[in-house]
Amino acid sequence: MSQSPQAAPVITIDGPSGSGKGTISRAVARALGWHFLDSGALYRAVGVAAVRGGADLADEQALARLALDADIRFEDRIDSEPHVWLGDEDISADIRTEEAGQAASKVAAQPAVRAALLAKQRAFQVAPGLVADGRDMGTIVFPEAELKVFLTASAEERARRRHKQLSEKGITAILPALLREIEERDLRDRTRSVAPLVPAHDARTIDSTTQSIDAVVAIVLAWAAPLKR
Ligand code: DC
Repeated sequence: MSQSPQAAPVITIDGPSGSGKGTISRAVARALGWHFLDSGALYRAVGVAAVRGGADLADEQALARLALDADIRFEDRIDSEPHVWLGDEDISADIRTEEAGQAASKVAAQPAVRAALLAKQRAFQVAPGLVADGRDMGTIVFPEAELKVFLTASAEERARRRHKQLSEKGITAILPALLREIEERDLRDRTRSVAPLVPAHDARTIDSTTQSIDAVVAIVLAWAAPLKR
């Protein structure tokens, strides 16, 4: 991607789930008054559209066409998860289910789907600036971003956070099983051939294992200070 000198600045925040990147990206976008891209929600929306349309989740070309053609719209809401529409239907709740997560992970593994979603993601780069949250924001979607953050936390801490989240929803989960799932997914994400979860060579890494959300947000905002126009 080539950016003109006038292009709106971009901060990318990549990392595994449970690293806190969603919460932190939104807080940074809110503090700066910038736009926010939740790229995972886009993959989830394509997953939901594919399941609704009865698409074969292994048919790469059919999924890529769907990713290009589906009428997916985001409503920029900084205070909560973005509202997502598929045509006339609000699918904000549907994309957060376990089924949508599974479908998202299958469609996200298809290179043609990832290519089809590039332009949709880059369209979020508008003034005064963009905070982009995902797995490949700094490596592939916005390689020329002014600030790239890679957020990590130990697998044990991410399993604890997930356990707490689930129990707050009244869902019983077994901590060692959650930890095993997270470790398996980490390995899959880091070693997959298409857009693996790795830090960009010029990313700055923050380990949030023992840091509060506020502390991490403060670090990112300090790094972002020179970008404000
Ligand atoms: O962050 P999340 O759980 O909402 O992401 C949903 C799925 O999409 C997950 O399987 C990872 C994938 N994803 C991706 O491959 N690339 C991104 N930039 C964002 C999400």
